[in-house]
Amino acid sequence: MNRTRTNIQIPRETIDEIRHRSDIVEVISECGIPLRPAGRDYKALCPFHDEKTPSFTVSVAKQIFYCFGCQTGGNVISFVQKHEAKSFIETLTWLADRLNISLPNQNARESANRKRFTSLEELNRFAAQYYHRHLLTEDSGGQARRYLQHRGVQPKTLKLFQLGYAKSTRRNLVKAATDEGWTIQQLVDAGLIKNEERGPQDRFWNRLLFPIQNERGVPVGFGGRALSEEQQPKYLNSPETILYNKSNILYNLDKARQAIYKKRTALLVEGYMDALMLYQCGVENVVASSGTSLSENHATLLKRFTPEVIIVYDGDTAGFQAAQRGLHRLLAAGLRVRIALLPNGEDPDSFARQHGAEAFTKLTDKAINLVEFQIQTAIQQQNIHRVDVKTQIVKEISATLTHIQDRMERSEYVKYAAKELHVNTDMLWHELRDLGLKEAPAPYRTRANKASPKKLSPRAQIEAQLIEALIQNPTLIPYIKSQFHYADLTEPHFAKMAQLLWEANPENDGPDIQSLLNECTDEKLRALISNALLRKTPPNLKARVDGCLRKLQHFIFKDMEQRVRSHALAEGADELETLKELVKLSDQRRALGAQPIHEPGAYE
Ligand code: CTP
Ligand code: MN
Repeated sequence: MNRTRTNIQIPRETIDEIRHRSDIVEVISECGIPLRPAGRDYKALCPFHDEKTPSFTVSVAKQIFYCFGCQTGGNVISFVQKHEAKSFIETLTWLADRLNISLPNQNARESANRKRFTSLEELNRFAAQYYHRHLLTEDSGGQARRYLQHRGVQPKTLKLFQLGYAKSTRRNLVKAATDEGWTIQQLVDAGLIKNEERGPQDRFWNRLLFPIQNERGVPVGFGGRALSEEQQPKYLNSPETILYNKSNILYNLDKARQAIYKKRTALLVEGYMDALMLYQCGVENVVASSGTSLSENHATLLKRFTPEVIIVYDGDTAGFQAAQRGLHRLLAAGLRVRIALLPNGEDPDSFARQHGAEAFTKLTDKAINLVEFQIQTAIQQQNIHRVDVKTQIVKEISATLTHIQDRMERSEYVKYAAKELHVNTDMLWHELRDLGLKEAPAPYRTRANKASPKKLSPRAQIEAQLIEALIQNPTLIPYIKSQFHYADLTEPHFAKMAQLLWEANPENDGPDIQSLLNECTDEKLRALISNALLRKTPPNLKARVDGCLRKLQHFIFKDMEQRVRSHALAEGADELETLKELVKLSDQRRALGAQPIHEPGAYE
């Protein structure tokens, strides 16, 4: 990915085409936001800040979104860019792929890479369907079908998860895929086959296959489960490929993201079967780490959808200690982390099957916070009264505490830990500082993200009204343009906006607001535009604009008077001249109230 590329290299027409053909409601829904119709618009809980009542609004007619809570807004491109944390160019590529539009001016290497990428996605889709068909229809898939039935997987789940079966011979996929025109190299690149001395061989044979999909639902790899105890290893997985980076993928995220978003909690389990079976019994907000340790990417990925993660682990897994390192990453990403422990020897799949979804949900509802969990297990398992043990525990707990991002929460847990471990809070704070915790306020998510609109100065309020009116009715632009210069606006955002409006296509039917949105690199400006478009246009826009202009002129004259005064003071200028100038300015200012500042009929 080349970050230095700018949008200039993608022709304006292509950007316009992508935008025109990407319906904002469809795209936002595909990104996992459950939009509900509200009059002519759609509404949802805002994905960009914490809220309980929906203020995130999507207008179909105007093809824009705006959140009245946190003032984030823009068009379909800005939405994807922000929500999926992509650059402008990545966003366009993503949207273009979705529509099957090719981006003409990608440089040769990039476009080749891109092709390789999309063709590997295609190839994986082909392989997933191929294996799925074999599971459903082939005689030899019988054993796998019985296995799944025995484990309680229903036919509809099997289809939803596109489970597959790889036959026991070694060149099935090689043949089927090459017959379809895929090359050996592509199959190798996708991790589906291995080039061996005796020729290319399928990676997966005689295994039940779990396609691993990225958060958009594209299969990027496979997890292959053995069908008997003898067959080793129990799971054989795809290698990392240009599509499949294990630290970026959480199994089932594509299906779980809506539920995670709605419940504001993600359940994190270890295995494919755990995620699949929970999903089947109605616990849909579940993803699996698939045996890999949690990475920073996993944490940021989850953070996009939820403020909280509940880890559901087997009480006696050996990997649990190691997993704790992963848990710190979740805390560091600003997630709240709770732990639900299963009875020894059970995993989420066996537990849910034995005790039912309700019992499982009870268990996760009772999940305790990671910090409490660590303290309690340490106290229960070890002799806290021994000095060396206690020192060690304090160090471990402190390490966890340093990762808590929310200052308030951290301070509460410091108190809690001090009490439970019978140590002094000051001592604990010292420990945290030794571990590198700076007392500089950490990002305090809930507060920073709460909508806190900056109070505008009286003059800036007028400027805002003016800009809003121009966005709502661009035909007023030529008229206003003749009255003052955009640099007269004091609020930099408004001045910038005015400049864009002034410069945009003045002759015809005014600027194309959607292109303006695309060109705006500034989030605040995009929000300003979306907000103006979503607000009701006041009935008497022209009169309102004139009012604004008058008031603005008033401010401008006042400014000039101020400047003349301070100039006179500083330079010891001729008093009489200064006085004359001031009188003139203040007369002009007063005259503003009495007469219109333009020739009527200039534009109606
Ligand atoms: N895993 C793996 N390779 C292995 C064993 C496990 O990649 N040899 C990963 C798989 O993603 C698996 C997860 O670790 O889903 C958890 O492993 P385990 O608990 O052993 O398997 P289950 O998911 O419980 O599978 P099953 O219920 O079918 O035994
Ligand atoms: Mn299991």
